[in-house]
Amino acid sequence: MNLPFLLLKRYQFLFFLSISCNRCTKEFIERKVLATTYNPWLFSLMASATSCILFLLIFSLAFALEAARPRQSNITLDSSLHPSTNPTSWLSPNGRFAFGFYPEGAGFSIGIWLVASSENTTVIWTADRDDPPVTENAVLKLTQEGVKLLQNSEWRLISKIYTSTDAFSASMLDSGNFVIYDPNFDVIWKTFDHPTDTIMAGQVLPARSELVSSVSETNHSSGKFHLKMQNDGNLVLYPVASSDSPEDAYWASQTDRDGYQSLNLDDDGRLYLLNGNVTYSLRSGFRNGTTLVYRATLGVDGIFRLYCHYLKLNKEQVLAEIPEFTDRCEIKGTCGVNSYCTSTDQQVVCKCLPGFDYLDTSRTSSGCTRNFTTSGCHSNNDNTTYMSTLENVNWMVDAYSAPWLVTSKEDCRDACLKDCNCDAALFQESTCRKQEFPLRYGMRDTDDYTTTFIKQVNISAGGRPGTSHAESPAAAPIITTKRKFSAKILLVSVAVIIGIISTLAALMFFFYRYQARRYRRMWRNKEPALVDEIAPRSFSYHELREATDGFMEELGKGAFGTVFKGTLPRGQRVIAVKRLEKVVDEGEREFRTEMRTIGRTHHKNLVRLLGFCDEGTNRLLVYEYMSNGSLADLIFKADGHPDWDERVRIVLDIARGIHYLHEECETRIIHCDIKPQNILMDDNWTAKISDFGLAKLLMPSQTRTFTVVRGTRGYLAPEWHKNAPISVKADVYSFGIVLLEIVCCRRNMELEAEEDVVTLLDWVHNCLMAGELEELVPDEVDMIELNRLVKVGLWCTQSEPGSRPSMKNVVMMLEGNVDISLPLTAGFSS
Ligand SMILES: *[C@@H]1O[C@H](CO)[C@@H](O)[C@H](O)[C@H]1NC(C)=O
Ligand SMILES: *[C@@H]1O[C@H](CO)[C@@H](O)[C@H](O)[C@H]1NC(C)=O
Ligand SMILES: *[C@@H]1O[C@H](CO)[C@@H](O)[C@H](O)[C@H]1NC(C)=O
Ligand SMILES: *[C@@H]1O[C@H](CO)[C@@H](O)[C@H](O)[C@H]1NC(C)=O
Ligand SMILES: *[C@@H]1O[C@H](CO)[C@@H](O)[C@H](O)[C@H]1NC(C)=O
Ligand SMILES: *[C@@H]1O[C@H](CO)[C@@H](O)[C@H](O)[C@H]1NC(C)=O
Ligand SMILES: *[C@@H]1O[C@H](CO)[C@@H](O)[C@H](O)[C@H]1NC(C)=O
Ligand SMILES: *[C@@H]1O[C@H](CO)[C@@H](O)[C@H](O)[C@H]1NC(C)=O
Ligand SMILES: *[C@@H]1O[C@H](CO)[C@@H](O)[C@H](O)[C@H]1NC(C)=O
Ligand SMILES: *[C@@H]1O[C@H](CO)[C@@H](O)[C@H](O)[C@H]1NC(C)=O
Repeated sequence: MNLPFLLLKRYQFLFFLSISCNRCTKEFIERKVLATTYNPWLFSLMASATSCILFLLIFSLAFALEAARPRQSNITLDSSLHPSTNPTSWLSPNGRFAFGFYPEGAGFSIGIWLVASSENTTVIWTADRDDPPVTENAVLKLTQEGVKLLQNSEWRLISKIYTSTDAFSASMLDSGNFVIYDPNFDVIWKTFDHPTDTIMAGQVLPARSELVSSVSETNHSSGKFHLKMQNDGNLVLYPVASSDSPEDAYWASQTDRDGYQSLNLDDDGRLYLLNGNVTYSLRSGFRNGTTLVYRATLGVDGIFRLYCHYLKLNKEQVLAEIPEFTDRCEIKGTCGVNSYCTSTDQQVVCKCLPGFDYLDTSRTSSGCTRNFTTSGCHSNNDNTTYMSTLENVNWMVDAYSAPWLVTSKEDCRDACLKDCNCDAALFQESTCRKQEFPLRYGMRDTDDYTTTFIKQVNISAGGRPGTSHAESPAAAPIITTKRKFSAKILLVSVAVIIGIISTLAALMFFFYRYQARRYRRMWRNKEPALVDEIAPRSFSYHELREATDGFMEELGKGAFGTVFKGTLPRGQRVIAVKRLEKVVDEGEREFRTEMRTIGRTHHKNLVRLLGFCDEGTNRLLVYEYMSNGSLADLIFKADGHPDWDERVRIVLDIARGIHYLHEECETRIIHCDIKPQNILMDDNWTAKISDFGLAKLLMPSQTRTFTVVRGTRGYLAPEWHKNAPISVKADVYSFGIVLLEIVCCRRNMELEAEEDVVTLLDWVHNCLMAGELEELVPDEVDMIELNRLVKVGLWCTQSEPGSRPSMKNVVMMLEGNVDISLPLTAGFSS
């Protein structure tokens, strides 16, 4: 090699750097010193000290890099790698990523890892991840067909190239992408097209592809969860062992119908879905810098995390988690079939159903199987079976029988006992369902009043013990091999650099303590905004006053304040601005938390919160504008009303919206004030619920008991008057009243009407009993549908909250998937 030339080059390089650094330090110091007190002596001392230290730092860095293993970004044909003799990997030009053999288990796997990560290697890609690790005498080689692996004297391709051209060279890029080129230097194969559990900044996960989690931190085989970028535009997390139906999902971006075509991660850490030039941000950007590396990995535990690696500090930080559950049991598939998940202090324990044993005692999350066999359906001597009971465990509903309403738990239990096909019965809110094993996604939830009955066989009464599940072989001990990546020299220079940096930091700290404090304060103020996820925008009061023309056009007055119409200058979007009035003065934090909760709701039957303003006493909410007024205008107006099909559709719209609030959004929201005035119609006559999530702002420290009655007379559930705890069932009651109002196109209370039709509920009930349902509706309707809607309405308005169905059941009933029996009582007349 041409040594003098190299030295000259390095010298020039260093010279240039020292000059430019000296200049920028000077500038830096000048600004800082002038900002505080100018002291020429101090200034010159600082300048020379800093530039000297910087020079040293750069020199040692350059030295360290030079001394490290030669790096290769141009991998030619027939280049090869070996697990234990150098070279074991090909490095990217900046030395950040390596492609090659890394230790896994007792052998080696082939993959890409982040070199400058913490003590634990961060593997971002693994070739043929489900193959067993290779032995020490394996060889990896770049050939014309792609990268080939030699093991047991057999060559096997690990990258299949489908183009007609041959491979010519390959390169490990600084982005973490390993690419193979043809002779024209066109990329013909790249690892970014074959992700495992990670995408890197710049990488795209296109529609119809997925990430699959790893088995563990040290075993990168396919694990239990996958993240799918679906063709319908939805990004969804499912357990792998499932049919990927909506019931299996534990998180979804809920952007189906929007046609997003890919999941993307940018250089500045922004994570978003993209359709053409339309984006849907999952996590806003952070910073763009050459010493920051972003990656998003589907973790072993099923959580999709966005990481930032600070290369200089050799640290990594989690910037965002999807989903943001606090209870890991909510991640479906955390526990296997026939077991249920309980959590204490972030520790998850999977417990078997009564009469069940773990499939694999060393991995309790793998599921359970029964340790007996039932007699089956042939012999009917049912004196050998009995039912055991489990309370407060919630399961995925997968009933083979349509759910039906029963009066007592015992009826439900006995129905299953008598049915030889039935393995378990789920009783919940007067509904009974029969299921077969396996039961899935069990989760202990003290707020869930499901009773599970599990059929058991009484061995002593003649039942047969099942196939015993002898100890399954204990999982092979996982051997962690200490990584050999750090060269001695690198270690030394890192120590030197750290020493210099700390000296520098101490110096800076000493002289500019004040400045540092101010900077930190600024940084802290900025932090919350940086970690926001799909958060609604924060507007200034001035901006909103402009948008509404000084609060000119009033749209209406509600329980919380006045609503004005406005237009945002950008995109001329029409908005509704709600100025909150009677809101309890909470801290800024609580208000913003609340806004974030509301802003995260994303459902076609909810009015979307676009932003808010929080300046002093001015609290304003910015919603999308609903052009077609409220449901009240629509159904109670004197001239004409929507026809029957429209009304049925509107009822379903509302039910789905409330169901989402109660069960599907991240934080359960009790609306507390469901009434036709709070249901708005958009251009397409889709009903959307508004004002949700605000009840909390009126009631600080919301517990399960509300002390002050919220809501509107006529729609209030009886428990409001009884000082009883308020639950989601209060909304179900209000929904029932609204449903009957929509069906009958009349108000709940119509004082001028005849005596026996004064209260809608009584009137409806009387008509149902008398078989004169047609009296209720002002037009010709489908009697079967009418009958169904009326029964649902009466079930929803039962005076006992526990007897009212959940909104999920309401939706099922309205869709006609469930038989509905006659309600018990006429409900409550207020
Ligand atoms: C890589 O090496 C080959 C062979 O030495 C050479 O022909 C080619 O130009 C190099 N490619 C790059 C990008 O340097
Ligand atoms: C990794 O996990 C898979 C599946 O559990 C197992 O088959 C394999 O042996 C494990 N590999 C190592 C190296 O432990
Ligand atoms: C490295 O991995 C071990 C075992 O998984 C873990 O206990 C440790 O905290 C990890 N260290 C870092 C710095 O992540
Ligand atoms: C980040 O910086 C790189 C290089 O300066 C630039 O190419 C890229 O567009 C930037 N990315 C973003 C998202 O700003
Ligand atoms: C998005 O693309 C469409 C059509 O390609 C174009 O009309 C529109 O202006 C683009 N919008 C932006 C914000 O670039
Ligand atoms: C089945 O398991 C239960 C509890 O898990 C245990 O009490 C019972 O003895 C077991 N029966 C057999 C036949 O192993
Ligand atoms: C259960 O039924 C079997 C067969 O009909 C009978 O032999 C046995 O005595 C019965 N046991 C009890 C406890 O009734
Ligand atoms: C099981 O059968 C025995 C004998 O017939 C009986 O004494 C016992 O009560 C039964 N156990 C249950 C839980 O039914
Ligand atoms: C409802 O929307 C339709 C279609 O946009 C429009 O023609 C109609 O005037 C609107 N009605 C009201 C009451 O605003
Ligand atoms: C109304 O429906 C049309 C066509 O289905 C759709 O393009 C439009 O975005 C809808 N408008 C709203 C506000 O949902």
